[in-house]
Amino acid sequence: MKFFIDTANLDQIREAQALGVLDGVTTNPSLMAKEGITGANNILKHYVDICNIVDGDVSAEVIATDFEGMVREGEALAALHPQIVVKLPMIADGIKACKYFSDNGIRTNMTLVFSAGQALLAAKAGATYVSPFIGRLDDISTDGLHLISEIRLIYDNYEFETEILAASVRHTMHIIDCAKLGADVMTGPLSSIIGLLKHPLTDSGLAQFLADYKKGN
Ligand code: G3P
Repeated sequence: MKFFIDTANLDQIREAQALGVLDGVTTNPSLMAKEGITGANNILKHYVDICNIVDGDVSAEVIATDFEGMVREGEALAALHPQIVVKLPMIADGIKACKYFSDNGIRTNMTLVFSAGQALLAAKAGATYVSPFIGRLDDISTDGLHLISEIRLIYDNYEFETEILAASVRHTMHIIDCAKLGADVMTGPLSSIIGLLKHPLTDSGLAQFLADYKKGN
């Protein structure tokens, strides 16, 4: 299972990279705005800064909502750095753009996916990644994890190569449940990754080992 971090915060990306388990980064316009990154040139530069920190894929989202605009923006994003994956919204023109990019060797991430039908279309259009937003489904009392299991079943039935990127992951248990269900990738905040480390028996066990070592030395 690949671990992506879902942020545009460079310090958090560095921290996750330093841990040695980071496979990539996802961003979106809201995450960019949260870091105060505004204006097209600053946003493009920020993507390059992120690529220079991590080794893996970095999803960069188009703002256009029409096919021509998405193709123009997506080509510019893909030209920034070989690690860039073009992130496209799950609308009709987004699917058209996904097919165009897939035919032209540019990798894509279909975002804002909330149903199995949308995920099926993304795979048919040749998406590299599909991003079901599990946390936002949970927010409206719908089982986000069930969607992951549905997409896994459908993709396995037809051997689609599109990777299931569980997005809108909010906490550690989401990661563990997504791993059980066979998501290829998860993207979440740094806290959800760090949370995997924690267990009180690890802390108390280590404290005891160190105390016993001190007694004998
Ligand atoms: O990866 C999708 C993500 O950025 C959305 O997360 O927590 O805003 O639902 P959230």
